[in-house]
Amino acid sequence: MSKLHILVTGGAGYIGSHVVKQIIENTDHDITIIDNLSTGRYQTIVTLEEMAAEKANQLHFIEADLADFAKIESIFKANQFDALIHFAASIVVPESVENPLKYYMNNTVNTTNIIKLCNDYNVGKMIFSSTAAVYGEPSSENIPVKEDCPLHPINPYGWSKRMSEQVIQDTAAANDAFKYVIFRYFNVAGADIQNRIGQSFPNATHLIKVAAQTATGQREKMAIFGEDYETPDGTCIRDYIHVDDLAFAHIMALEYLAENESDVFNVGYGQGYSVKEVISTMKNVGGVDFKVDQESKRAGDPALLISDNSKILKAWDSLKNSELKSKQPKLFKYDNLELICKTALDWEKNS
Ligand code: UD1
Repeated sequence: MSKLHILVTGGAGYIGSHVVKQIIENTDHDITIIDNLSTGRYQTIVTLEEMAAEKANQLHFIEADLADFAKIESIFKANQFDALIHFAASIVVPESVENPLKYYMNNTVNTTNIIKLCNDYNVGKMIFSSTAAVYGEPSSENIPVKEDCPLHPINPYGWSKRMSEQVIQDTAAANDAFKYVIFRYFNVAGADIQNRIGQSFPNATHLIKVAAQTATGQREKMAIFGEDYETPDGTCIRDYIHVDDLAFAHIMALEYLAENESDVFNVGYGQGYSVKEVISTMKNVGGVDFKVDQESKRAGDPALLISDNSKILKAWDSLKNSELKSKQPKLFKYDNLELICKTALDWEKNS
């Protein structure tokens, strides 16, 4: 594949930084990161710059907010990007209920603006981080969830991403020179296997992060939100995917778009674990016990959310002359809850 110049928004954040790392490790593409450092960390950029310095990749960081349209346009004017990987977004579900306009502005409006810049400045490829939250609460006959499952978000966060998907798809339908891959992430967790980067979001609410913080004593205790769901042990079941596998899928998407048309893919392992299973795995991996309370159900938590990932696995199999496949025969290589918990725990210990 020829060398690309890729614009990554939100590259200082959790998922964005792992994708930049994968680009550096697996390709010679150049990268420009735009991040407002609202939730991303500057130290992450420094770490990524050190990784790039050892390879042939040029890495540039620009501190900017996507809401500053004039500044973002000046960046598009000064560079010829070949692809955009767009992460920068707000992601906390309860906050989106309290402050929906923050989500519609920061997610949907900013995404619309950057798509316009892609069109105006001939950036022909976009990879978009969407979420399983666009499905809302799928009925049991729709589990595992396929990409053509009806989209019924149940909170402004899910809607902000759903609407962004629509803008991308309508734009691509009207402009043959603009192609996209939309990824609907399931529950992303864990950290860099070598422990150089991880999840640093303040006041994190994600189960595996919270359990890792409790195992390391940063939290005195944690809680299970609801134990009377219609699942085998009464707690919610989710499809947890290691962040490095999720990140690798983005590199695959760049190869995919070179040969194929635009498409939407779930990214998950297609396998579920309950909250109780996750907590007991974290205790085993950490070799510690910790206090777990019972609390009432959290609003808007579906009992069961598992991906049907056959579409992305088929897309991987279909890649011909793939440089990536020569490096890594399987799309996903960290499909192991213990490993996910261990990397999350190591990150909490060292960060
Ligand atoms: C997460 C993301 C959401 C994303 C979705 C994709 C958040 C808050 N949620 O949702 O943005 O779109 O993945 O599928 O960013 N739990 C506990 N105790 C805790 C924390 C969580 O019992 O301290 C339970 C929750 O009730 C839930 C499960 O663990 O049943 C997973 O929760 P969480 O890690 O927050 O992820 P999701 O809500 O599934």
